[in-house]
Amino acid sequence: MALRAWVQALTPLALRRKPAYPWAMADPLSPADALALLEWQIELGADEAIGDAPVNRYEDPAAPPENLPEPAPVAEPPPAPHVMRAPDGDVAVAEARRLAAGAPDLATLRQAMEAYPHCELRHAARNFVFSDGRPGARVMILGEAPGRDEDLQGKPFVGRAGQLLDKMFAAIGMGRAQDGDNALYIANILPWRPPQNRDPTPAEMAMMLPFVKRHVELAAPEVLVPMGNISCQGILGRRGITRLRGQWTEALGKPVLPMFHPAYLLRNPIMKREAWGDLQELRTRLRDG
Ligand code: URA
Repeated sequence: MALRAWVQALTPLALRRKPAYPWAMADPLSPADALALLEWQIELGADEAIGDAPVNRYEDPAAPPENLPEPAPVAEPPPAPHVMRAPDGDVAVAEARRLAAGAPDLATLRQAMEAYPHCELRHAARNFVFSDGRPGARVMILGEAPGRDEDLQGKPFVGRAGQLLDKMFAAIGMGRAQDGDNALYIANILPWRPPQNRDPTPAEMAMMLPFVKRHVELAAPEVLVPMGNISCQGILGRRGITRLRGQWTEALGKPVLPMFHPAYLLRNPIMKREAWGDLQELRTRLRDG
């Protein structure tokens, strides 16, 4: 039925209807009011009639007949045979492990991650963000996830937090464009930007972790520097960066020195003093180690 015909069919009903909302027009509706009402429905998106006969949805439902017989008890269905079915999360993690283990080098790992279909974040992100800097650098920085600028450019740590990170490491003579002992390698726990920069869910973290582990193996740094809580959660299984930062620990077979995330330092510049202490600790370890 064409929409115009539907409007015409409904008009007599609208004329008889009782006001249902406080702002409803008083009865009786003029044909012009009824038409305006129906056109308002069209504006709300109703663009199709779903039945040939108009239904008066404002009519009081018929009163239920009294003294209805008690409904017959419904028999319990027999218990279903137990079926072992891996939840989707397990399938996603198993697939990530398989792909990560099968990547013999960083280029293959990058391709496998980029094509990995199970992480929903990929659909909202503009770009896949893998890494920057020198693979094989003595220090590998692990951030959380790309933000807006990183998502636009497809590179980790290129926004304001990234500029601060560059300045922090430049202060100890290191950088992503440097070579040899002064080189840095930079990646994130997640390669896609979470919408509105929300925290990743445990399921997203779990499915991307096998890739992070393989990434660390293939980049082969001497030392890992996770920045912020999400990265610590990812590789150490612990949060609480205020207590973790500056304390050497171990994960993925590497010495690990957690540090404040540069975005946190932008919001809390007073903590830069602690971050400077952590950088000096790192420099001492690299010099002596
Ligand atoms: N914050 C991160 O943790 N990583 C980035 O790449 C950018 C901002």
